[in-house]
Amino acid sequence: MDLQESVTQAYEKRFGSKPEHLAFAPGRVNLLGEHVDYNDGFVLPAAINLATWVAFSSSGTDTSTLAALDLKDETVFDLNGVPEKKDKNGKKLSEWGHYPAGMAWALGEKGLDVKGMTAVFSSDVPRGASLSSSASVEMAFGKAWQTIGGWSIPPMQMALIGQRAENAYVGMNCGIMDQFASACGEKDRLLLLDCRSLEYRTLPLPDDVAIVIADTTVRRTLVSSAYNKRRESCEEAVRLLKMQIPTLKSLRDISVEDFNSLANLLPAETEMRARHVVNEIARTSRSIPLLEAGDVESFGQLMNECHASLRDLYEVSGPELDLMACLAQPIHGCLGARQTGGGFAGCTVNLVKKEYSDEFTKTLSAQYEKKTGLHPAVYICEASRGADFLY
Ligand code: GLA
Repeated sequence: MDLQESVTQAYEKRFGSKPEHLAFAPGRVNLLGEHVDYNDGFVLPAAINLATWVAFSSSGTDTSTLAALDLKDETVFDLNGVPEKKDKNGKKLSEWGHYPAGMAWALGEKGLDVKGMTAVFSSDVPRGASLSSSASVEMAFGKAWQTIGGWSIPPMQMALIGQRAENAYVGMNCGIMDQFASACGEKDRLLLLDCRSLEYRTLPLPDDVAIVIADTTVRRTLVSSAYNKRRESCEEAVRLLKMQIPTLKSLRDISVEDFNSLANLLPAETEMRARHVVNEIARTSRSIPLLEAGDVESFGQLMNECHASLRDLYEVSGPELDLMACLAQPIHGCLGARQTGGGFAGCTVNLVKKEYSDEFTKTLSAQYEKKTGLHPAVYICEASRGADFLY
């Protein structure tokens, strides 16, 4: 049974009638441009064929009853309890409850009509695996609140509202990439987003390559505090560099050459963090003509460089991610391999010649398992369309 069916059936079982609506929102994988979205840089993600599905109906009241099928948990809250993050009994909302409630809060803040719903949801985006499971829950519920509220907004605006929910309600100071990819994904296309202007365009994935995701199966806690710290380092770098370049607004505004000549003004750790960002923004800009010209070998090289930079300068890698990337890079047919998303644990993204992708998948799984005793999930993924509802 696929997820779409299981949430529909579970809804009927729980609420005694068929759901009025069914919505979904995908996770994402990022090919290049890591930890640059909150520095006004360029990112190159794709929405993937793993998603959160939500079956829902209007409750006709201000009360929402939401069931998380995977977690076998349920939360009930009134809309007036949402700002205080309280459920109907005045207790603290569960951790997962913050995502749908955060969306209700952020949509309400924008003046959009939010009404109560009954819902059952489930996701096959692995949690804590750097594939944006949170953003997919936010965007799926964004669609749900939209349907119940009877209004409509462009996907990019929904993404910004999701980011606001995550920043101000959940407390993770993320950039726009994940919600953007989940909301604006397109089938078989990569998305190139300028995180400053929010303009984006899509690019075809060259015909002869496959995107392979390799899940280390390792998860870490305290990732969001480490993430928020990285972001603070970038802000500190901007503050210090501004003394020399008063027009500087973000690390997007300094070239690699200028950064090299001013780097000694920064404390060592801040310098490393900022160096990754400045190089990565330049790397992503360089990668686009390569991709457009079908030079997937050179593009893959940039992915490998990105991994090294995330490991050595930004220090958001982890032993299992390093091992997975390091095992993948020399395998025949692999063009590039690196950790994807926020980091510390979770998944790598691999660009692989299509004709070798099955062999690559088997070899990488076997080698990783041999070294760690862990059975990884390695699979070829498809670039997919963004959040939508089926009915
Ligand atoms: C997380 C955040 C994104 C982005 C990536 C790193 O996924 O949610 O906004 O910063 O990390 O590129």
